[in-house]
Amino acid sequence: MTEVTGAPADVLHTLFQSDQGGHEQVVLCQDRASGLKAVIALHSTALGPALGGTRFYPYATEAEAVADALNLARGMSYKNAMAGLDHGGGKAVIIGDPEKIKTEELLLAYGRFVASLGGRYVTACDVGTYVADMDVVARECRWTTGRSPENGGAGDSSVLTAFGVYQGMRASAQHLWGDPSLRGRKVGIAGVGKVGHHLVEHLVAEGAEIVITDVRGESVQRILDKHPGVVTSVADTEALIRVEGLDIYAPCALGGALNDDTVPVLTAKIVCGAANNQLAHPGVEKDLADRGILYAPDYVVNAGGVIQVADELHGFDFDRCKTKAAKIYDTTLAIFERAKADGIPPAAAADRIAEQRIAEAAAAARAARV
Ligand SMILES: NC(=O)c1ccc[n+]([C@@H]2O[C@H](COP(=O)([O-])OP(=O)(O)OC[C@H]3O[C@@H](n4cnc5c(N)ncnc54)[C@H](O)[C@@H]3O)[C@@H](O)[C@H]2O)c1
Repeated sequence: MTEVTGAPADVLHTLFQSDQGGHEQVVLCQDRASGLKAVIALHSTALGPALGGTRFYPYATEAEAVADALNLARGMSYKNAMAGLDHGGGKAVIIGDPEKIKTEELLLAYGRFVASLGGRYVTACDVGTYVADMDVVARECRWTTGRSPENGGAGDSSVLTAFGVYQGMRASAQHLWGDPSLRGRKVGIAGVGKVGHHLVEHLVAEGAEIVITDVRGESVQRILDKHPGVVTSVADTEALIRVEGLDIYAPCALGGALNDDTVPVLTAKIVCGAANNQLAHPGVEKDLADRGILYAPDYVVNAGGVIQVADELHGFDFDRCKTKAAKIYDTTLAIFERAKADGIPPAAAADRIAEQRIAEAAAAARAARV
């Protein structure tokens, strides 16, 4: 996937003429009374209503906000397709510092804009928006998910996200070592927040050896106290990625974890983690492959959360979701096999499989119309 920059010409090119077929629709929204400025981008509705969260962020320019919405929406098309969901890809961004401008009035105005799309776009949480915010948006818009259990929602999605990442790790182990068991494997987790700490529990239960790090000392300490002797910690991610004998590295903090500085020094043989956008730039996936490191594509293994928000639209059922999230194991294995067959890195194989599913759905819809 080629990223679009914030240059206005690039934004327009991506919209209408991109080699990936462009986006279906982009809506620029403004509500002067509340100060809302938002961009809703629908990349594709071939598989169903576009689904993706709302990012609330202080973009430096409007063009940058549009570019981010376009990139994120396209990413959701791929993620939803690979998660087996009947949803296309969309994403919205609200421009501004949420700490300063987020109000109930603004969120309600935003909800009215999403509602005006009549169900072509379903929104949810993302960076800068939370379950409580979706409860407010939902008052104006029935196409809102990621709400609190008190308001008919499924709440925190990190439990299933961690479960999906764990399935991705098992599939990676099966592909590389011929055995999905993680017993005795040394796994390094960078970031033990909402997802990372649930991941620790799965790995402890399976008998893995775990090394963690986090910029928040109390998050690390809480886990060390709970699992003395099983979990150890190192000072920072720099140290974690160099741990001797590390089998698996799980980036579970911020994006860009795999870059020109980190890939050459990774000791792990597998990278599989929850963080979004782990590859810092195009080409890193090839650098990993050249070093013989198996990379489980981030948007595939971290799809447990989107599986949950999609399920919420049909009345949330945890067990049904868990069954769907467990399929991340098979999907990840299929990607590795396709990568091997096509002689390309797994990230490129995942993109190909997703594009194929979207193209087939679009062709079927066209055929049904004539
Ligand atoms: N929560 C979900 O359901 C979900 C779904 C899909 C993807 N993700 C992605 O997974 C990642 C983690 O999500 P989360 O919900 O656990 O977030 P979180 O904020 O709860 O946890 C992130 C943790 O990373 C730590 N951290 C930040 N910078 C760090 C650094 N430089 N080194 C080490 N630790 C650092 C933070 O202190 C925090 O504990 C994010 O990239 C998120 O976008 C989350």
